[in-house]
Amino acid sequence: MQSNEVFWDSELIAKYDTPAPRYTSYPTAIEFNQEFSEQDFLQAFQKYPDKNLSVYVHIPFCHKLCYFCGCNKVVTTHQEKADIYLDFLEREIKARAALFKNRTVTQLHWGGGTPTYLTYAQAKRLMDLLRNYFHIDAEAEISLEMDPREIDNAYLDYLRTLGFNRISIGIQDFNPEVQRLINREQDETQIFGLIQHAKDLGFESISVDLIYGLPKQSLESFHHTLEKIKELDPDRISVFNFAYLPNLIRAHKMINAADIPEASVKLKMFEDTIHFFRDSDYQFIGMDHFAKKTDELAILQNEGRLHRNFQGYTTQGETDLIGLGVSAISMIGDMYAQNEKILPQYYEAVDEKETALLRGFKLSEEDCLRRDIIKKIVCDFQLQFEDYEQEYSIDFKEKFSEELEELRMFEKDGLLELSQQGFTVTPVGRLLIRHIAMAFDTYSKAKRQRFSKAI
Ligand SMILES: C[S@@+](CC[C@H](N)C(=O)[O-])C[C@H]1O[C@@H](n2cnc3c(N)ncnc32)[C@H](O)[C@@H]1O
Ligand code: SF4
Repeated sequence: MQSNEVFWDSELIAKYDTPAPRYTSYPTAIEFNQEFSEQDFLQAFQKYPDKNLSVYVHIPFCHKLCYFCGCNKVVTTHQEKADIYLDFLEREIKARAALFKNRTVTQLHWGGGTPTYLTYAQAKRLMDLLRNYFHIDAEAEISLEMDPREIDNAYLDYLRTLGFNRISIGIQDFNPEVQRLINREQDETQIFGLIQHAKDLGFESISVDLIYGLPKQSLESFHHTLEKIKELDPDRISVFNFAYLPNLIRAHKMINAADIPEASVKLKMFEDTIHFFRDSDYQFIGMDHFAKKTDELAILQNEGRLHRNFQGYTTQGETDLIGLGVSAISMIGDMYAQNEKILPQYYEAVDEKETALLRGFKLSEEDCLRRDIIKKIVCDFQLQFEDYEQEYSIDFKEKFSEELEELRMFEKDGLLELSQQGFTVTPVGRLLIRHIAMAFDTYSKAKRQRFSKAI
């Protein structure tokens, strides 16, 4: 169905070097508002009562600050703070799980911060809580994000006994000087040992994160990191673009601006990454994600069944997503809802009302249609008009005549091929998928400048 090729065209990439959303949701989180109420949340979860559930739990703690980090985290060595957090999380879990008594959890993910910050006892407490209050399917995908610096083989063994079957490991870069400058020094031998052990234990999917654009990274040094990743042989790879924002993110002030590679070098790094993983038999899933051709993400993409949500590309999009913990986002029915983003505020909210809703967004029928279209474009790189005509009672070409005009401009640049029935994104256009999707985004077109650059 798909050829899965991707081609780098420097001229076109330079032409479209403008900001575009990453579409982990449509509309994007910028549109969330505080008019959204608990009542709206309660209504939304009744919309699709038969849907399975995906549960996301945010663990905000880290032992040490990485200077590049843009995640929602609290850096502390006071391990007991996690006990306090779990006390509040328990209250939120109890309150929210009561709404989903008849649902089955088919996907559970712990993100952060650093979920492996938790001690054995804290991790067990959280897993027991989740198992007590939710019905977790025996075949559920259970995953977490881990910082390789703080775990050993025994911790991996323990995670397996808790039921985890997938892991995502932050590596970022293997170069010692880069690691020193980002305050994240890692032992390469230990990482190799850890991943081998995870494979021996039968973790079904092992994912690694890299970042390009870090201080003192060069095209050569990053290529060397890519070669080591190939040796590690993970199932999935995310290669994130580092946006240096010292005025917005305090940790970035610890990085010397002069050490950041120039924009042209960063582009070359990503080009090299694309070619390297293509030649290493990984499938370009989209944006910053690669997967082995045997991995479920790649297989589902080839079958036109891939999804995208706040966790990025995912195998399970037909679920409602409930986010628990500070800053966590839920996607239930036709709404999005986000919890308080700052820890003291999260505690205050749970103390007052057992839940911590901060803001959200109710999608209109029009938003749902555009969301479906955007999701299809970023996941499948193609779209058939008729798929939307019956469900939404529209004549696609009539309704989206302006958008199709825009697509014709993309067609002239070779980014896609239009037909009477639909369109297919070309191998060159795949790298500019965010721009193509944006043609259908009524909110963002007006505020392009607010988003990160697409490459
Ligand atoms: C929550 S962290 C992963 C788990 C764990 N805390 C760790 O660092 O290993 C998620 C990932 O976001 C990416 N990330 C964090 N800050 C970033 C930034 N400013 N730019 C690009 N990627 C970033 C990193 O690749 C990191 O591994
Ligand atoms: S990159 Fe990971 S470990 Fe480092 S500060 Fe951010 S969340 Fe914590």
